[in-house]
Order: sequence, then structure tokens, then C-alpha cells
Amino acid sequence: MKKIGIITPGGDASGINACIRAIVRRAVSSKLEVVGIVEGFTGLLKEKFIQLNLRSVSGIINHGGTILKSSRCKEIRTSEGLKKAAKILKKQDIEYLIVIGGDGSLSAGAKIVRMDSSISIIGIPASIDNDVYGTDETIGFDTAIDTAVYAIDNIRDTAVSFNRVFIIEVMGREHGFLASEVGLASGAEFILIPEIKYNVNKICRKLKEQQQQKKTSVIIVFAEGCGNPYKLADEISKKTQLEVRVSSLGYIQRGGSPSARSRNLASRFSDYAVNLILKNRKNLVVVLRKGRIKSVSVESIIGKEKKIDTGILKLANRLAV
Ligand code: F6P
Repeated sequence: MKKIGIITPGGDASGINACIRAIVRRAVSSKLEVVGIVEGFTGLLKEKFIQLNLRSVSGIINHGGTILKSSRCKEIRTSEGLKKAAKILKKQDIEYLIVIGGDGSLSAGAKIVRMDSSISIIGIPASIDNDVYGTDETIGFDTAIDTAVYAIDNIRDTAVSFNRVFIIEVMGREHGFLASEVGLASGAEFILIPEIKYNVNKICRKLKEQQQQKKTSVIIVFAEGCGNPYKLADEISKKTQLEVRVSSLGYIQRGGSPSARSRNLASRFSDYAVNLILKNRKNLVVVLRKGRIKSVSVESIIGKEKKIDTGILKLANRLAV
């Protein structure tokens, strides 16, 4: 009987539990054995395994986070750590390692299985950053957008009440995928992302124009990869005499009950992943492309830079007049 190990080693994202649920339901009903690896790669190196059955995943589809927990593991970045992980998987007779996570998690998983050709990886992209090359969307991205937009809608009330400029920092690591979608949906006047260097003087000129057009409050969505939002706030305040405040949304963007879209993407990815295993396919990542679920080789996507769609920014700019 084939044995599968599921691991959720990276930043949590809402929908990962829906993913675990669907994998277990499809695999166990197809007579495969499934174990959960607890606390990501740290847990793998400590041999923290739990048996998963149909009832282990009851009632989790609507919960954020991951029942398997996660960790930031430095040891897995060393060749000794990778070798030790492969050895432990072999000892556990695990033929397939299903890695649910972002680029870093998928890359580490691919390096582990390269240590032992009897183990194969099936990757499922999950991250609020949506920065996995090769897929249009990652599990959790849609929920994080909704969470951030809801928070910005609330902040806009106080911005309007006080005629203030608000710089709202959102997550996304080194990319602006989350900031772009959140900015467009929240009607932000500015969206600043790491892929495009911003110019403070240009921002201030536009703020003055908006004041002349009787705009009394402004929302600036600031992706965390752009640097320090407080520095920008200080510069704007000095140059325009406007009242500027900063609000960093932080970890609320990672949790919460997953949206229907995040849940259904998780279930579709997982169903496809188990079918790949049943067909003995190896070392693949499940991706979404133009609405269709496909698989690509893990080597073809890890470490590759996903390009931002500047069309979203241009549209937001056209509407922020
Ligand atoms: O990759 C997901 C993410 O939330 C990023 O957006 C963020 O920069 C990072 O994880 C935070 O990492 P940690 O959970 O280790 O603080």
C-alpha cells in the first residue's frame, strides 16, 4: 500500500486545512495510507508523525491555520538536514511527500526528495503571497485579500472622519501580488509594491492635486517589501503638511475562516494531487492556469520569479481620480 506524508512547513494560509481534508478523504478512500508530519520540517527532523484517517479531518474545512502546525526550520537549509529528512522519510516507508506551501516550502521539499529517488514530491501551492511561479493562484490568497480589504474599509472610516492620509502596510514578502489586488478592491489612491520603485515627490505632487480636486482622505496600500512605511509617512507629512498615519495589518492576513474560493481551490488541487499519486506520477506541482488545474514539474517552477500584472495597478490609478 502506498504511503503518503503531508507537510505544511511554511507560512499558514486559510484553506490549508481544506487541502489536508481533501487529500486524506481522497487518499484513504483509495486505500492509501496517510501520515501527517507535525510542525513542518522541524517536526519531520524530530520524526513527529500522526496517522490520519477519514475522521481526523472532520470539521476543519472552515478553519484557518493548519492542524499539522508549521515552523521556521533553519536545519532543513543545510545538506545534513536534507539528508536526515530523506532518511527519516525512507525509514517511515513514505513514498510520496505532499508539500502544501509557498516557494520556500516547495523548494525545500524538492531538495529532500532529490536525496532519495524512491521518494517523490507532489507540491500544492499555498501562500497568502501568491508568489509561486507557474500558478495563477495559491491557496489562501483570496481569503487574505478579503481580510485586508475588510480592514481597510474600516480604516477608511477614520481617514474620512479626520481628513487623513493612511499608509496601510500589507504582507506579501518580496512581492506585490497581495497589495495589488487589495489596493484595487479597496479603492486605494496609491498602491506601492516592491517590483516598482516609488518616488516620494511624485506621490506628494499627486496628493496636492487630489487636495485641489477636494479629496479629503487618502488610502495608500504599501506592500511590506517596499521598506519602512513610517519613513514614507514622515516624508509625506513634511512635504505636504498633511496628517499621515500608518496601520500595519500584520498577521490578521494569515488567518480566519477560508473563503469559499480558497476552500474550493484547496479541494480541487488536492483531488488532482491524489489522482497523480494513483497514476504513479512523480515530482510535480499542481497549478491553476486560466481556471484549469494542471501539473508541472517541480524543477520547472521552484526558485523562479513570478511576474506582477501591472494592469491591476494601472486600472487602480485610472479609477483613483
Ligand atoms: O509568506 C507568508 C508570510 O506571511 C509573508 O507574507 C510574511 O512576510 C512572512 O510570511 C512572515 O513570516 P513569519 O510568519 O515567519 O513571521
